[in-house]
Amino acid sequence: MTTGPSSATGPSSGLAPNARSRRIEASATLSISARAAELAAQGHDVVSLGAGEPDAPTPAPIARAGIHAIERGDYRYTAAAGTAALRRAGARWFGTAFGLDYDHDEVMVCAGAKGALHMALAAIVEPGDPVLLLAPYWVSYPALVSIAGGEPIVLPPVPEQGFVHDAAAIERAAREHGCKGIVLNFPNNPSGAVATRAQMQAIVEAAIATDMWILSDEIYATLLYDGAEHISPASLPGARERTIVVNGFTKSHTLTGWRVSFMAAPKPIIEVCARIQSQVLGNPCTISQAAMLAACEQPLPEEHAMRMRQFEERRAFLLHEINRIPGLRLQAPMGSFYALVDIRQLCDERGIDDVAACEQLLEQHLLAGVPGSAFAIPGFVRLSYAAAMEQLEKGVDRLRAWAEQA
Ligand SMILES: Cc1ncc(COP(=O)(O)O)c(C=O)c1O
Repeated sequence: MTTGPSSATGPSSGLAPNARSRRIEASATLSISARAAELAAQGHDVVSLGAGEPDAPTPAPIARAGIHAIERGDYRYTAAAGTAALRRAGARWFGTAFGLDYDHDEVMVCAGAKGALHMALAAIVEPGDPVLLLAPYWVSYPALVSIAGGEPIVLPPVPEQGFVHDAAAIERAAREHGCKGIVLNFPNNPSGAVATRAQMQAIVEAAIATDMWILSDEIYATLLYDGAEHISPASLPGARERTIVVNGFTKSHTLTGWRVSFMAAPKPIIEVCARIQSQVLGNPCTISQAAMLAACEQPLPEEHAMRMRQFEERRAFLLHEINRIPGLRLQAPMGSFYALVDIRQLCDERGIDDVAACEQLLEQHLLAGVPGSAFAIPGFVRLSYAAAMEQLEKGVDRLRAWAEQA
């Protein structure tokens, strides 16, 4: 009997990870943050505008609800779809905050928006199904589609249209590729674009005409500027039955590390997703569910208004300062907390791409941003303004120094 070399673990070995998992890349935002942290640990004064995490802490009443849950022993398994109390509170929150009409059994609790997107894609994608993504898209979408066995189809970005695609282009791409679904993300990470009611209506009509699922990631829905309005596709005629909404308090209330979110969808989808979740996760963290219940029950409007004033001030500062730097351009984000800076002119003049530009910014100027390529928008760099004003001031100085260097 012959045996193979016991140390063989390369791609040709039977012990290699499968082809699908090998195609999954590490999150670009997390790797930039890791490099920025490494430089900071070496004593460098890094300005880190890479990660999309609010700088304010989780509001005290919400954090305390988690602490109380531990203290009263409320940390055991829950139902896979979340506690009945939280699902009911979630249904009420979708109604009051966004005018969406869901019953408690059309809402489930997931492990973060990421967890919800994963469950939703696992429920609707057949092997090889094309799923339409609109660039710039949030970094995890292509990987999430691939993990679900689908094929990401990417519509190139339209910065000259304020980053919102024409419904006609969406419909054409959906027909050409036979797309099973489309992922929407307004307010958008990284562009900050918010579709108007008319734009959303037209996109919904394109999805209906091509019989696509709409997976709507609305995690920035309450972070809006200049009177922009958040329109959930699920609120528009004919769309509810084909729309899966993902939302929660991750970004608005810094529930980032708590890993908890909502999915709202027609009941058959929720039932399937709850079954999948019961097998792969069990249930979302019980303690975090208690915190999220507090967030639903006490929306803390003053605290939210204060955070929005901070974001508005930072956004105004970046718009003013960055647009004064020759060769750079920043369109006003209408939602979320990202500045997607157009560096194409300087990249062209210097014969570099956005990845090299971000490397220069980090290694030579100690400013961490994320290259647009990670979001399928090369020639741009994303800076997060979920960071203190002093950091933004330093960040802009460093960006200017990079832009002005010979
Ligand atoms: C558009 C978008 N969707 C989802 C997420 C993930 O949210 P969560 O931390 O709730 O999984 C993020 C986080 O950056 C995001 O920007």
